[in-house]
Amino acid sequence: MPTFNLTVNGARKTVNVAADTPLLYVLRNNLELSGVRLGCGASQCGACSVLADGKEIRSCVTPVSRVGDKKIHTLEGLPGLWAAKKGLTGEKAASTLHPVQQAWIETQVPQCGYCQSGMMITAVDLLSRVPDPTVAQITDAYTGGPSPHLCRCGTYTAIIDAVQVAAKAMKA
Ligand code: FES
Ligand code: FES
Repeated sequence: MPTFNLTVNGARKTVNVAADTPLLYVLRNNLELSGVRLGCGASQCGACSVLADGKEIRSCVTPVSRVGDKKIHTLEGLPGLWAAKKGLTGEKAASTLHPVQQAWIETQVPQCGYCQSGMMITAVDLLSRVPDPTVAQITDAYTGGPSPHLCRCGTYTAIIDAVQVAAKAMKA
């Protein structure tokens, strides 16, 4: 098996897997990051989304051999991403969620929760590019890309509210 060196949630990781193994499987099975979800497995739902150098990608259709030097962040890595951005360290860093995660809690977005990791990843991507998005821009973020992000529980309007709450918190 070939060896791949990945940067995941700020740490260097080495895995020995077939080159065409989807990044999704590497994250879940080799690195035990269960926040990343398998939905459709065909780039059609967004459940498996992660950040690659800050941009959302669908990990179910990304072979591990294509990741290269890109910095991968999963749901588990969002607090660290925020701590690094704000210069938080020690206990403060360890006890602070990313404002997107906090907004999801405050707005009570999840129902079954299965799709929500991908939804939060998209919010982080959007807010890094558009700090104060309109409802139309939020809608575009979730309906563009390779496919719309799908939520069988119908949390779409709550997601719009939560992104707006997160945007305010990130500006404060
Ligand atoms: S599992 Fe990757 S887009 Fe659905
Ligand atoms: S919260 Fe259940 S699928 Fe989205």
